[in-house]
Amino acid sequence: MSSHGAPIPMTSRKAGRLSGTADVPGDKSVSHRSLILGAMSVGETHITGLLEGQDVLDTATAMRALGADVIQHGPGAWSVHGVGVGGFGEPDNVIDCGNSGTGVRLIMGAVATTPISVTFTGDASLRSRPMGRITDPLRLFGAEAYGRAKGRLPLTLIGTTQPLPVRYTTPVPSAQVKSAVLLAGLNAPGETVVTEAEATRDHTERMLRGFGARIETEITKEGRVITLTGQPELTAQTIQVPRDPSSAAFPVCAALLVEGSDVLVPGIGLNPTRAGLFTTLQEMGADITFENSREEGGEPVADLRVRFSALKGIEVPPERAASMIDEYPILSVVAATAGGRTVMRGVKELRVKESDRIDAMARGLEACGVTVEEDEDTFIVHGRGADGVPGGATCRTHLDHRIAMSFMCLGMTAQKPVSIDDAGAIATSFPIFEDLMGGLGANLVRTDT
Ligand code: S3P
Repeated sequence: MSSHGAPIPMTSRKAGRLSGTADVPGDKSVSHRSLILGAMSVGETHITGLLEGQDVLDTATAMRALGADVIQHGPGAWSVHGVGVGGFGEPDNVIDCGNSGTGVRLIMGAVATTPISVTFTGDASLRSRPMGRITDPLRLFGAEAYGRAKGRLPLTLIGTTQPLPVRYTTPVPSAQVKSAVLLAGLNAPGETVVTEAEATRDHTERMLRGFGARIETEITKEGRVITLTGQPELTAQTIQVPRDPSSAAFPVCAALLVEGSDVLVPGIGLNPTRAGLFTTLQEMGADITFENSREEGGEPVADLRVRFSALKGIEVPPERAASMIDEYPILSVVAATAGGRTVMRGVKELRVKESDRIDAMARGLEACGVTVEEDEDTFIVHGRGADGVPGGATCRTHLDHRIAMSFMCLGMTAQKPVSIDDAGAIATSFPIFEDLMGGLGANLVRTDT
């Protein structure tokens, strides 16, 4: 089932060369944060390029429920009239974050140090994901959380009346955990300190600085130590959201897979904590050039030009995992068409995403005639070379947008069509995927089961 309705089965058939310009939507991580920090600041924040995927729309609805004035003025153009740090009011109903782990986890952090009760829920995928990683540090601030077994949603969070600042070392590499702690720290007196052993995406830190918070990052032998001074007055900002590198990954990889392709993907955010996929693809032999490098909205951005390339399998270093964590599903498709083995280690976080992404990709690739190996923390794909993947299967997507889009890309190069049981979740992050890929020359059709 799709997150918001009946399943939408879809089939991808072998494509001729892909060409043209792929204008991918705004960055999902930056979009969530723009709305949340806009809602926690004083004055009116103006946002352009906001991703209007369901995940972000659900965060917009949540910010309204907490008292902020969130208005859409035109495509991607939004304003948020904030209530200030500590100014959220108690919502009069449950907050439904749909499919979005980022939405629910960041909002839990943002409300934990305000004395209100908020009940969170989500779709079947989100209700199965671990929330203890968020509620554990939020309890240190003084918040209380009551969820289902293993802390799963639905979950009620009771914000504390007397927040304490917290020192916390994240037990897993997670920007969502780090961000939840920092957002909770905003309404605690004194300094909240988060240490992360491995660098994860730093959009929250960059944006907090932009909104006027005092926040410093130090590199130590324990990792990155981020110190936030609590109870700042955040001032409304103008934010231009860069285009999402995790969405760009699909037209970029599709162009690499389909013979004769030449595609331009402009304005892509290339924050080093997000750009690991592009380094990996280049190591595999991809012809990708970065043109017109510039800065937009505090993030490095460039235009990507990608041409079909014969690729070779590689070992992806585990220390790169955090910077490409959402890109392993599409990388595993690329790996299936490369020559030789691609070994992905240090990837166990993939098991707790919108689906168990190692399992979902492994089963679908096997059904399409690709040999894989896996253990808890490793995924190995045996490449069959360009044009070597048999295809001809229907793959299960488990309410996971990235699994759905990855198999649709595989179908563009496989010998026989590749189908998915449900394309509905694609709308959470990349609502224009079908039209955009079709415009480049892909052959995607909605099919009946
Ligand atoms: C995100 C962090 C990552 C990523 C997710 C977006 C964020 O999750 O997978 O899609 O915006 O902070 P984790 O923090 O769980 O690694």
